[in-house]
Amino acid sequence: MMFARILGLFPLALLFPIAACGSAGDAGGTAAAQENAVSIFASEEGVDTHSYARPLEARVTHVALDLNADFDAQRMVGTATLDLEVAEGAEEVVLDSKDLEIREVVNGDGETLQWEMGEDSGDAHGAPLTIRLGGATRIKITYASAPGAEALQWLEPEQTAGGETPYLFSQGQAILNRSWIPTQDSPGIRQSWDARITAPRGIRVVMSAEMLTPDGEPVDGEPGRLAYRFKMDEPVAPYLIAIAAGDIAFQQLGERTGVYAEPSMLADAAAEFEDLEEMVIAAEALYGEYRWGRYDLLVLPPSFPFGGMENPRLTFVTPTVIAGDKSLVSLIAHELAHSWSGNLVTNATWDDFWLNEGFTVYFENRIMEAVYGTEQAAMLADLGWTDMMEDVEAVGGLTAADTALHLDLDGRDPDDGMTDIAYEKGAVFLRTIERTVGRARFDAWLRDYFDRHAFQPQTSAGLLSDMRANLFEGDEADRIGLDEWVYEPGLPENAVHIQSNRFRAVDQAIENFVDNGSIAVINWPEWTTQERQRFLNGLPRDLSEERLETLDESFDFSEARNSEIRFAWLKLAIANRFDPARDSIEEFLLSMGRRKFVAPLFEALMEEGDWGAPLARRIYAEARSRYHSVTTGTVDELVDTGDD
Ligand code: BES
Ligand code: ZN
Repeated sequence: MMFARILGLFPLALLFPIAACGSAGDAGGTAAAQENAVSIFASEEGVDTHSYARPLEARVTHVALDLNADFDAQRMVGTATLDLEVAEGAEEVVLDSKDLEIREVVNGDGETLQWEMGEDSGDAHGAPLTIRLGGATRIKITYASAPGAEALQWLEPEQTAGGETPYLFSQGQAILNRSWIPTQDSPGIRQSWDARITAPRGIRVVMSAEMLTPDGEPVDGEPGRLAYRFKMDEPVAPYLIAIAAGDIAFQQLGERTGVYAEPSMLADAAAEFEDLEEMVIAAEALYGEYRWGRYDLLVLPPSFPFGGMENPRLTFVTPTVIAGDKSLVSLIAHELAHSWSGNLVTNATWDDFWLNEGFTVYFENRIMEAVYGTEQAAMLADLGWTDMMEDVEAVGGLTAADTALHLDLDGRDPDDGMTDIAYEKGAVFLRTIERTVGRARFDAWLRDYFDRHAFQPQTSAGLLSDMRANLFEGDEADRIGLDEWVYEPGLPENAVHIQSNRFRAVDQAIENFVDNGSIAVINWPEWTTQERQRFLNGLPRDLSEERLETLDESFDFSEARNSEIRFAWLKLAIANRFDPARDSIEEFLLSMGRRKFVAPLFEALMEEGDWGAPLARRIYAEARSRYHSVTTGTVDELVDTGDD
């Protein structure tokens, strides 16, 4: 209710007498794309309940940031200048904000404008910032972010690999960027942007845009500071504006690919990601030209809360993906795939998050197949199937309604939609369609779909009507049961399950071990990481101390340097209250803050009462200040700190 938008205030025809606006000469700036966005905002599924913006009245088309990164105060301080597309008769623009300190708002001529900060929702949504336009189509806001801004994490030097320079990074998705940028923080409201950022000498700034300071070389800023400049001419969803700053070095990998990392991590990172250029080439061969110029990776400090984040031109990745043997690089294929699914064609609202992630998991697997072969791709898809089934069967605590692809997240945190339903059921849906129409036809359609909807928002309804118009023949759509797939809970019967042949041997090894404790057919040294994951996740949750000891001693699980293996092992160890793993649990949880690992382990510890809860509380008391707000936001709900 609170976030309900009032539509129909203006008759649509009067709105936006399409003057080509914003960035000149790109696909997103065309009249057709603008018109399409407007019709999506007016459609039932296009209304974003997670933003206060009223895009049919006034819409941000360009953001220009001029900010100082103040490491002492842990604030971004400066100005945001917004260009607006204003409908006839509209007198104000509504922006999203979260704990921003607004100092002044002026128009393009420097004249003061009236503004009002509405009531804060008390949750992730923040507060509406309403500005009276008085005819202005450009506004300049002088402001500062709060020291605890959710999108930003300011790290002390000790929290970095080098240990000498502080570090800053942002995480915008889903609705965190409103805590450092006053704009319309809605994925359907695409904005081109540019930025001038200053930082103390010795701290290098990178952003998810083209670097204008040649070769990343900054120019003099205020005394003791250097200024870096960036621009993104393509209109992007605002959650994709991202920044990082610290002791950051760069190594080129391929013609248009490279990796940024702290100097001591750079060589390992470059080795791990040596196939990056090949992945981009494979992706282009599948679904069309890569449209963003460069594709670089930034390896973050270990507190980065996600595996990866598809910030345009500059994917952010966790250092836990560096396993030493390239075994976890499907994560890179995933973030790369978002350069099409998500960054080109974007979910119009978080209710259709599956449009970003389901398409991306499907595409990711096709890249993996092209670069590493069918069996590798099958293993990854099969692991995804198991994850999906846990959510479908509500093992992960989802309600039936949460197992539909299209969700209604009104009044909830968009984070609630970040489940394996969006990712894996979404991908299985596309595999089921692929199987029905044949790969050749599916691929041709998808490539064309990305082109036709490039730089535009999309809804479930929009996708289905596109498929009906451009993909299906005869009764295919009915045979697949599109509406059931998208709008109904659970998993339709025709779901295509890709099964890995190699997992049969692994499952056999599990059976043998369970039957008689024999490790003879556990071919651990020969197994890939994916077979190892299948093994550890496939073992029954109740194993005797003796059996766990046999495993740990034979294969050194507690010492595993591969984060996925370590995680799978520790889940099993905790479920069995296996004492010898306690040090390993502590070390792992203090070594990184990736939510996917951290949250389930704390949850499992808390479930083990006297055995696990005190350990969880002790570790969390030490770890909490090192984690990003995304991770503490989840773990705070799991671990009572015993303070109150
Ligand atoms: N875009 C997501 C991360 C995300 C989703 C952040 C929703 C905030 C809200 C990213 O592409 C992603 O899915 N990352 C995964 C890894 C991937 C291989 C499944 C992750 O971080 O675990
Ligand atoms: Zn993703």
